[in-house]
Amino acid sequence: MIEMLDLDAEVLADYHRELIGWVGREAADHPRVVDIGAGSGTGSLALARELPGSEITAVDVDPEMLAHLRDQAAKTGLGDRIRTVEADLDQPWPDLGPADVVWAASSMHHMADPKQALASAYAALREGGLLVIAELDSFPLFLTGTADEEVERRGHEAVAHLRHEAGMHMHENWGDRATHAGFEAVTRRHFDIDLRPPLPAAAARYAEVTLHRMRERLEGRLSTSDLTALDKAVAGLAGRDDLSVRTTRTVWLARRGRFV
Ligand SMILES: C[S@@+](CC[C@H](N)C(=O)[O-])C[C@H]1O[C@@H](n2cnc3c(N)ncnc32)[C@H](O)[C@@H]1O
Repeated sequence: MIEMLDLDAEVLADYHRELIGWVGREAADHPRVVDIGAGSGTGSLALARELPGSEITAVDVDPEMLAHLRDQAAKTGLGDRIRTVEADLDQPWPDLGPADVVWAASSMHHMADPKQALASAYAALREGGLLVIAELDSFPLFLTGTADEEVERRGHEAVAHLRHEAGMHMHENWGDRATHAGFEAVTRRHFDIDLRPPLPAAAARYAEVTLHRMRERLEGRLSTSDLTALDKAVAGLAGRDDLSVRTTRTVWLARRGRFV
């Protein structure tokens, strides 16, 4: 998972740069940022790098993620502006405020109770503070236009069922949810990412790690012939020059009202 998230940051660098630029224009100067479900640190590191004087609190339930994030922060000279907090955000949140920005990238869908999570984000923000929710509409496809396109699609469908069964909150209207939680000035942007071949080696590795992870979850969920085809595809990814990366993300920005 850590390598997959780091590769997402590397391969989709243009998307991440554009998103951080947008948030940077909307955020206060020298913002205090809380990164919810910070993972391996994609958001925390980019925000610390791109927003001058920002101070980041990276929160995650997974200590391994946080250890990796701290290593990366130290290596890139950002260690003094990023602190980590290990916490299960399905429980009452620790005191994280007052924040200028609450950043939640691909993490809100993990929250057991999104309503509670949004109320906690609201409470953590100062008046006028910014909530950023970035979510995946569709997970990356790498094999579009190749002979393996259909088996990849069936794999994604099966994993979507697993996520649904696990109670994950995919494809929510986070704008509506934020409004119900008391947020104002909700804006939404859709990002259509379509990277065409030939792509750098990191894209093949991203495909390998992602599809391997998907394959591991599909035992008994796809036909034997599909599983065999997926195994073969995963084994042969390195060195292929016909891989693409297609994925869509939606990002919502919302403000904690000044007079609520
Ligand atoms: C898909 S990753 C996204 C990581 C990062 N935000 C990014 O954009 O790369 C989701 C993260 O949310 C964390 N997470 C899931 N449930 C959580 C919870 N209840 N409390 C805190 N963190 C949680 C996971 O450990 C994981 O690191």
